[in-house]
Amino acid sequence: MSDRASPLVVAVDGPAASGKGTISRRIAGRFQLAYLDTGLLYRAVGAKMLEAGLPLNDQEAAARMARGLEQPDFHRQDLRLPATARAASIIAQIPQVRQALLEYQRWFARNPLGGMRGAVLDGRDIGTVICPDATVKLFITASPEERARRRCAELAQGGNPADYATVLSDVIARDKRDRERASAPLRQADDAHLLDTTNLAIDEAVAKAAEILEPYLR
Ligand code: CDP
Repeated sequence: MSDRASPLVVAVDGPAASGKGTISRRIAGRFQLAYLDTGLLYRAVGAKMLEAGLPLNDQEAAARMARGLEQPDFHRQDLRLPATARAASIIAQIPQVRQALLEYQRWFARNPLGGMRGAVLDGRDIGTVICPDATVKLFITASPEERARRRCAELAQGGNPADYATVLSDVIARDKRDRERASAPLRQADDAHLLDTTNLAIDEAVAKAAEILEPYLR
């Protein structure tokens, strides 16, 4: 149960295109919580590195970009492109980049916007590193094939259609990088609830997530 002296924190982690973004946004609306898509922070750094033509293994430059992020960087048109996702997962391996983004994420969790009751953060290391003391943690998965199918549909809807085989191999390569990196790798926290959405429509997945979270968020 939640300690009402401090804001509620819902930590949501999982691999690429597992449904965690949509689920987190809808859970936030339902329980009056602020929402932070932490992937956008990494995507913004990746997009700026690509735009500047800098090599993605330039640790100093990537850390400087991460420290210098500003509001307009989160409204760029290129954040959802596959090339940006790939770049994000490469710069996300750099410890100085992660360090630069950590304080903002923790601040957001502790200071929910607009007088909300708490916050939902989704990412890869929220339950393990950013908010290990979260009120409740979810780890959302689905098979790689189903995730690639969903990502293809999302890309097509956003006007950037992509080939299924390419998206599937991108998703698999990104998962591998995210799971195998030394700094804050993707993994299920010991105390996280597992939700496999492979065979669930989005409304069913949101309903399942709400059922798990409800006792903690009353
Ligand atoms: O939307 P999708 O699940 O495909 O990706 P995202 O959540 O926007 O994250 C893009 C990339 O940023 C991931 O592949 C990770 O490498 C990185 N990331 C991270 O390392 N830690 C986070 N908390 C969030 C994202």
